[in-house]
Amino acid sequence: MQIKTVGVLGCGLMGSGIAQVAAGAGFKTIVREVNQGALDKGMARIKRFLDDGVSKGKVTAEQRDTTLGNLTGTTQFAAMKDCDIIVEAIIENVEEKAAAYTFLEAGVGTHTIFASNTSSLCITELAAKTKRPDRFGGLHFFNPVPLMKLVEVVRALTTSDETYQTLFSFSQALGKDPITAPDKPGFIVNRLLVPYLLDAIRCYERGLGTIEDIDKGMKLGCGYPMGPLTLLDFVGLDTTYYIANIMFDEYKDAMFAAPPLLKRMVLAGKLGRKSGEGFYKY
Ligand code: 3HC
Repeated sequence: MQIKTVGVLGCGLMGSGIAQVAAGAGFKTIVREVNQGALDKGMARIKRFLDDGVSKGKVTAEQRDTTLGNLTGTTQFAAMKDCDIIVEAIIENVEEKAAAYTFLEAGVGTHTIFASNTSSLCITELAAKTKRPDRFGGLHFFNPVPLMKLVEVVRALTTSDETYQTLFSFSQALGKDPITAPDKPGFIVNRLLVPYLLDAIRCYERGLGTIEDIDKGMKLGCGYPMGPLTLLDFVGLDTTYYIANIMFDEYKDAMFAAPPLLKRMVLAGKLGRKSGEGFYKY
């Protein structure tokens, strides 16, 4: 299927990155937020990232302007009626997502593919909330979306072969290098990453080392771009806690159990970079 127009639902951290990448790849892109304030914030984030890219010599001023020219912000579901694919990147809540799909389905054509960027919810469950379970799949991007090369393409039990192929080639057209992941909690990357991050917290709780030394150990010893506690602050402690709970719920395996410190830091509002404090202060 030929994709010309891309819709992105949500212009938060992930949605704005996805919209930027789609517009940068030459697609006419329409991004929707719930209100003008949230939309302005997301659009400003995209502009800032592109301006930074120009300052760093990674993007030309012409590429920045073309990307911004391909991008339209809206607060209306109706503005997405001509999209060939809509990537949903809103709050991680099944009912909120289902409500958004219902609004979209009132306007879009039957050919339109829906993809969710969820990192933790069941793709088959989300697909079942729509009237197009065969034209529904997961496209899981990584933060920061414009810099991370990976997309996980996730097939629901109901995803058709054609939809899966379209999602895979669309990811490549975005300049990403996709992999196929199963519709199981955490897909491939978070299935491996989350137990590692939880274990780093457990190690810290048990006095294995200081925050700085645990991070330095994995960064310099294993060549990871960030140590695990820095990465937790980057991803968000609340996000990690949420994903861990979903994985624990499904697998009932202690490796996915949130350590007591993680729960307490989330309760105390120490969520990482987004709240100004996590394992480090920002
Ligand atoms: N535009 C274009 N390019 C830019 C840019 C911009 N605005 N800003 C930075 N870059 C380029 C830089 O020029 C540099 O390019 P180079 O390697 O060719 O020199 C590269 O991007 C890296 O940028 P920086 O040097 O400024 O920064 P760092 O080297 O510190 O890298 C990072 C930053 C890419 C975030 C790196 O620290 C990293 O990879 N961290 C790990 C991130 C990660 O693991 N993400 C996944 C989280 S899990 C997730 O998202 C899943 C969810 O479900 C939880």
